[in-house]
Amino acid sequence: MKIILIGYMGSGKSAVGMELAAALGYKFIDLDHHIEFFEDKSISEIFKERGEIYFRKLENRILKELVSTESNVLISTGGGTSCYGNTMDFLTSQEETVTIYLKASLTVLADRLFTERADRPLIAHINDKAVLIDFIRKHLFERSFYYNQAKLNINTENASVERIVEKIMSNLF
Ligand code: S3P
Repeated sequence: MKIILIGYMGSGKSAVGMELAAALGYKFIDLDHHIEFFEDKSISEIFKERGEIYFRKLENRILKELVSTESNVLISTGGGTSCYGNTMDFLTSQEETVTIYLKASLTVLADRLFTERADRPLIAHINDKAVLIDFIRKHLFERSFYYNQAKLNINTENASVERIVEKIMSNLF
């Protein structure tokens, strides 16, 4: 099986992905880290030097390559990966591929992202929490159309990583 975690920035895709992959004995790939390794640049540098459109094409191409070549793999995507180009159509049409949306509330996302925004080029410039909350609210609304196409929709509330992994496992098997 190939498991693809999707969801907004700060929803726990990397932390949950790592634990879930370990629990399943699957290879874990964090798409952002994978891209940073191959480009030899941070995501912020890629955005700054090549622009967002370059990054969107790159993440789409690399995700497709991974899904087509890997098996028994869990891939944690970036918050926007599933929302651009034909990524979601591609993922839902693939055999043995399960997409999982990690859903978190606006409050939880805003609290996490306010302290972790520096390395995230889309929000790094927002220094006012109320402005960030407003940004996330609108952005999440636009992106939910794509996130909601996932096969599994997991409400993470404020649950621990272990609890979320258990929840996903019970939904998968
Ligand atoms: C992005 C999310 C980031 C990263 C890039 C763009 C987005 O990944 O891919 O900064 O568009 O939501 P995380 O969801 O891991 O923060």
